Amino acid sequence: MDKIKRIGVLTSGGDAPGMNAAVRAVVRTAMDCNIECVGIRRGWQGLINGDFVRLDGASVGHILSRGGTILYTARSEEFMTEAGRKKAVFTCKMLGLQGIVAIGGDGTFRGALELSRLGVPVVGIPATIDNDVGCTNYTIGFDTACNTAIECIDRLRDTMQSHERCSVVEVMGRNAGFLALYVGIAVGATAVLVPEHELDFQKDVVERIQDSRLAGNTHFMIVVAEGVGSAVEIGKQIREAIGIEPRVTVLGHIQRGGSPTARDRETATRMGYYAVKSFAEGEGNVIVGTQEGSMVKLPIEEALQMKKHLQMDRYEIMQAMQLGRTE
Ligand code: F6P
Repeated sequence: MDKIKRIGVLTSGGDAPGMNAAVRAVVRTAMDCNIECVGIRRGWQGLINGDFVRLDGASVGHILSRGGTILYTARSEEFMTEAGRKKAVFTCKMLGLQGIVAIGGDGTFRGALELSRLGVPVVGIPATIDNDVGCTNYTIGFDTACNTAIECIDRLRDTMQSHERCSVVEVMGRNAGFLALYVGIAVGATAVLVPEHELDFQKDVVERIQDSRLAGNTHFMIVVAEGVGSAVEIGKQIREAIGIEPRVTVLGHIQRGGSPTARDRETATRMGYYAVKSFAEGEGNVIVGTQEGSMVKLPIEEALQMKKHLQMDRYEIMQAMQLGRTE
């Protein structure tokens, strides 16, 4: 790669708390390396439309603690087409961008791979509350989303306990159960339903509620990953099987907002730093990630083929915690 003088940075796909911290780190590291940084707004669609904003050290001041993304985000259908990507390449030429830092999840990185094939180097930073990117142990936003969901469920538990009710709570995660399982362990759920574990309704829900009741509990917390199906349906099935009237809560997008936790700010800052260093050292077309706490870089194509499995020992741990009385 030629010596890099100017790069673009964008956020794409679902937003995640800590994206702003990553943008800030990209801009400030770029300054440190004498690289200019241009903000591309609204993800890949913004690159197609030439929707940009000039960024300097001051323009990313006071965003470290803010959720969302100052660059806005989008999911672009047009970028999935060859014609769309060609327009994006034109924007890069027009603005003199020699590389793009793309902050997002797997969908963002699939776009990155296609763009790199048209000659624009891309470095990816994994950010999604789902934590479902194969090449990295951790994705920016996951910890904040876990903590937000935990806070909500703790509140729900107060009222469920007072009324001696069953609560069915649906958490996000797309097709993965990371968020549900981590949250379920942290709130001491009666049962956690994740897509990675084939559901046996009688054993995984009915008997767990019955066992919990026998242990003396009078309220029950069932955490459902959205990838399993609708919490409303699970609630209905519980009513039919046991005769209790569960209250259903879908946490929804509340899980995506809020000020990032220390872990998300710190990880985002390190990832942003390493992403720009990668360009400064002449290496594009990689995704930065964490493996056992250290920062790693993997070629995008290879990274996209990597699978990350939910550690099922966590599922067993969650189950083992349920046998005693919880109140
Ligand atoms: O990928 C992040 C995520 O929040 C998923 O957990 C969820 O399934 C999806 O995005 C929701 O997408 P949207 O914001 O388009 O409704």
